Amino acid sequence: MTQDELKQKVAQAAVPYVRDVGIIGVGTGSTVNHFIDYLADFKADIEGAVSSSIVSTERLKKIGIPVLDLNAVGNLDVYVDGADEVNPHKHMVKGGGGALTREKIIAAASKKFVCIVDETKCVDVLGAFPLPVEVIPMARSYVARELVKLGGQPVWRENYITDNHNEILDVHNLSIIEPTKLEEIINNIVGVVTVGIFALRAADIVLIGKGDEVITR
Ligand code: 5RP
Repeated sequence: MTQDELKQKVAQAAVPYVRDVGIIGVGTGSTVNHFIDYLADFKADIEGAVSSSIVSTERLKKIGIPVLDLNAVGNLDVYVDGADEVNPHKHMVKGGGGALTREKIIAAASKKFVCIVDETKCVDVLGAFPLPVEVIPMARSYVARELVKLGGQPVWRENYITDNHNEILDVHNLSIIEPTKLEEIINNIVGVVTVGIFALRAADIVLIGKGDEVITR
């Protein structure tokens, strides 16, 4: 199976988690795109979705699912999203698609986070995938210097602006041994909007597309 076929398979496996839920949270990325495509067949059961990006919003609207403002709907029962890396503790690195801030907000406001990944995303230690950090534009260089002090090599994601009009630094060469600690440390750097470590609010369920099966962790 190709990686995309694995993404498709795991996306399909997430559909039962959102049947009869009402309003769902929807993440961003190629795996989630497949998930949204599957939702088309069940849209009558779905009252609406809170979306983590402009891209996902467009896709949801295209299949006729109303996109709602998180402020208007309160907490959500279920949030479905992909990840760039996930460890055995269900901690994740996210933000390869640049939507990390809204993703973290929806994850925080959801009772259950269902993470959907293909097997290539499973790691023992987070950090091989460059860690995305969303920053206020004027703070970019300052934050980069602080990240160097932590042992990383930040690279500016040039010609990229987030949905929140901010910039992203992708931090290479970090071995994230203590994800919750590093999440707190990077969160506390002035000028950081969001760090792509999702450990303080980890996933509740991880669905992994592996060969012909989908493993539930
Ligand atoms: C976007 C994300 C995505 O979940 C992550 O990048 C995985 O993407 P894909 O499903 O395309 O592999 O965090 O900000």
